[in-house]
Amino acid sequence: MCGIIAYIGPRQAYPVLIKGLHRLEYRGYDSAGICLVNQHLDIYKCKGKVSDLEKFVADKDTSGTIGMAHTRWATHGEPNQINAHPHISQNQKLAIIHNGIIENYASLRSELINRGYKFKSDTDTEVLVHLIEDIQTQEKLDLEESVRIALNQVIGAYAIVILSEDHPDKIIVARKGSPMVIGIGKDEFFVASDATPIIEYTNNVVYLNDEEIAVLERNKELKIKTIKNKIETPYIQKLEMSLSAIEKGGFDHFMLKEIYEQPRSVRDCMRGRINMEKGIVHLGGIREYEQKLLNAKRIIITACGTSWHAGLVGEYLFEELTRIPVEVEYSSEFRYRNPVLYEDDVVIAISQSGETADTLAAIDLAKSKGATVLGICNVVGSSIARATHAGVYTHAGPEIGVASTKAFTAQVVTLTLMSLQIGHLKGTITRSRYHQILTELDTIPEKIERTLRMNEKIKEIAGIYKDVKNFLYLGRGYNFPIALEGALKLKEISYIHAEGYPAAEMKHGPIALIDEQMPVVVIATKKGTYEKVISNIQEVKARKGKIIAIINEGDVTVKQLADHCIEIPETEEMLVPLIATIPLQLLSYHIAVMRHCNVDQPRNLAKSVTVE
Ligand code: G6P
Repeated sequence: MCGIIAYIGPRQAYPVLIKGLHRLEYRGYDSAGICLVNQHLDIYKCKGKVSDLEKFVADKDTSGTIGMAHTRWATHGEPNQINAHPHISQNQKLAIIHNGIIENYASLRSELINRGYKFKSDTDTEVLVHLIEDIQTQEKLDLEESVRIALNQVIGAYAIVILSEDHPDKIIVARKGSPMVIGIGKDEFFVASDATPIIEYTNNVVYLNDEEIAVLERNKELKIKTIKNKIETPYIQKLEMSLSAIEKGGFDHFMLKEIYEQPRSVRDCMRGRINMEKGIVHLGGIREYEQKLLNAKRIIITACGTSWHAGLVGEYLFEELTRIPVEVEYSSEFRYRNPVLYEDDVVIAISQSGETADTLAAIDLAKSKGATVLGICNVVGSSIARATHAGVYTHAGPEIGVASTKAFTAQVVTLTLMSLQIGHLKGTITRSRYHQILTELDTIPEKIERTLRMNEKIKEIAGIYKDVKNFLYLGRGYNFPIALEGALKLKEISYIHAEGYPAAEMKHGPIALIDEQMPVVVIATKKGTYEKVISNIQEVKARKGKIIAIINEGDVTVKQLADHCIEIPETEEMLVPLIATIPLQLLSYHIAVMRHCNVDQPRNLAKSVTVE
């Protein structure tokens, strides 16, 4: 949510900043701005995307070797030029960019107004820059100290970068609750909300911790201290990401690339974790917590969005394989409803980005009540990965498209491995069943590949239904969360209203919506409740609804009933979500492209939601 990039070093800053903003644009794209330090603070900002900013500055002087830039996802104040970052202090000497929310901004703002400060924007961010100026001038403190004191007065979340006209060789960076990475090159520093804009210059990075302030100066070592004034030694880590992983690689959109990456990302998620010869699962990250899981009276899965859907699949998996009762909670609800939590509960937090504010808060709550908290994250070193007691990385590689695809399948694979292993250790599944599922899991990448070959057929179906107003998605058992996920994908990127429902619940409401205009996507794979789903299809047909069915290869029964069929390979019932989700991702992708929607950056959404 909001992308931040900054640079100081021998290079011209502008190209680094613009390229970085493009890489971070998935975090927010309603306005953008840049600040370069020359004699003065040269600030350019505008409403719209990074490309609009580029056009806006085309005839301006963009020279300078120190600067910062921001791409915004509006929280306080509508997206317009005035509310775009950077924001500047009253004396025009300080500029700030910010990701997060200053919760006590209203009281700080009225105090500052009483002291004569004039606010130009409606943002919470502007408060901070005036506050720093105020402390600097009133208390005659240097910039670093003024920033530190100001941050002690702030309630909320922030990742900030500050530039000063009086210190043209210095960048000040701080974070609390919003991510910030510092890249260390030769005589240069990069700062960004995540590592994607840094990787092409250096793979030496420092992840700033909460309540830390870093000072980056030309030809000096990186300095870090906490807002409580404690000096910290920077911990330099090596990034393992490759540049190709964050580029489109010939695909029209990141989303399509990421859909097509799934045979590989699912394989990567399993790599080194399944020993087929010995027939065992090894999840190093949670090894020390296996006993906690074995003894757990209850598992609570907490997540948001697509990760929450993965959590629902996890519920079915854990209950079937381990017989441990599972509850799946939206993090945003869980954190505020004073849930009952015991010390022998295991909470599993799922998050692609590892930065979702509500999930982080849910983790804090669970920890405060003594529960064990495990994480399933994609982004290595992310806040959630660090906040949890232990966890498993999904290793899906960077996911740039705002609509989550490959991260979802990797989350489901991770949950499958975890529940299989615990079921095996607990003895709630037989050894032969354990082996059978593991062997089948090993075939999933190839089955996803086969499913991707349905692309042309899916595109044809997309062409027929691209202009409808509503869609219904139905599934039962393991396919119910997939129906929810299919509907979410369509809403997110094509702006068509879609609802996911357990197929049998249709008769308790949604059936009233069905007429000849209504396409109903039904996941009707064999096993489980196949026959029941066929009855649900009949109910839709009787009301003239159009059926798009996801069926197993060679299924003639549903073929006779459905208007369109997408065939996928057969697999274990519990592994169907890994395959059935693929055609739904492709369907929403093609519909969105045909409707000329911005697939990778859908309106109003952001990839990582660091505000509650
Ligand atoms: C946003 C994204 C979704 C994602 C959700 C949870 O809404 O657009 O794709 O599923 O956040 O994010 P997380 O990073 O915690 O999985």
